[in-house]
Amino acid sequence: MDADITLTVDGQERTVTVDTRTTLLDALRERLGVNNPKKGCDHGQCGSCTVLLDGRRHLTCLALAVAHDGAEVTTAGGLAGSDGGLHPVQQAFLDQDGYQCGYCTPGQVCSAVGVLDEIEQGHRSHVTDDLEADPELTDEEVRERMSGNLCRCGAYAGIVAAVKQAGQAGAA
Ligand code: FES
Ligand code: FES
Repeated sequence: MDADITLTVDGQERTVTVDTRTTLLDALRERLGVNNPKKGCDHGQCGSCTVLLDGRRHLTCLALAVAHDGAEVTTAGGLAGSDGGLHPVQQAFLDQDGYQCGYCTPGQVCSAVGVLDEIEQGHRSHVTDDLEADPELTDEEVRERMSGNLCRCGAYAGIVAAVKQAGQAGAA
C-alpha cells in the first residue's frame, strides 16, 4: 500500500509517495536523493543513518517514513548557517580530525548536535554520577552518549575532542 507523505528536509518541504513499509532512511536516500544519512548496518546498530527528527537525534533505518508524515528532518547537510558557514560541530570535527573515511561522519555530527542539546537540557545518562546536578561535558559522558555511533576507522579520539570543543563553544 502506498501513502503520500510530506517532510521538511533541511528546510525544504518535500512530498513523496512511499510504500508504507519504506523506512525513513530509504525515503530520504532512494526517493528524495538526500544522501547525507548513510546506510551502514540497516539494523539500528551503527548510527550512520542518524538525523535530527523534529529536533531529536534519531536512527532513520528504524523509523517508518509514514509514521513521520509532517516531520522536520535535519541532516548533517542542513546544519550550516544561513550564511553558509559551518555549524560549530562541523567546524570542530574539522579542527579535531574527527573523521578518516568520513562515511560515519554525517551520523556522528547529527548525533553530536543531539548530545550537546541533551546535556544542555540536563538529560542524565548511564554514567552521570550525580543525578541531582546538571550533567557535565566530560570525556566519559561524550563516550557514553556517542556510543551508538560506530566509526570503523577508529577516529574516536578526534570525535570526543570535537564534541567537547563544540560544547565548550556553546554549540547546543
Ligand atoms: S544504518 Fe541505521 S543504525 Fe546503522
Ligand atoms: S570516519 Fe571512517 S567509519 Fe568513521
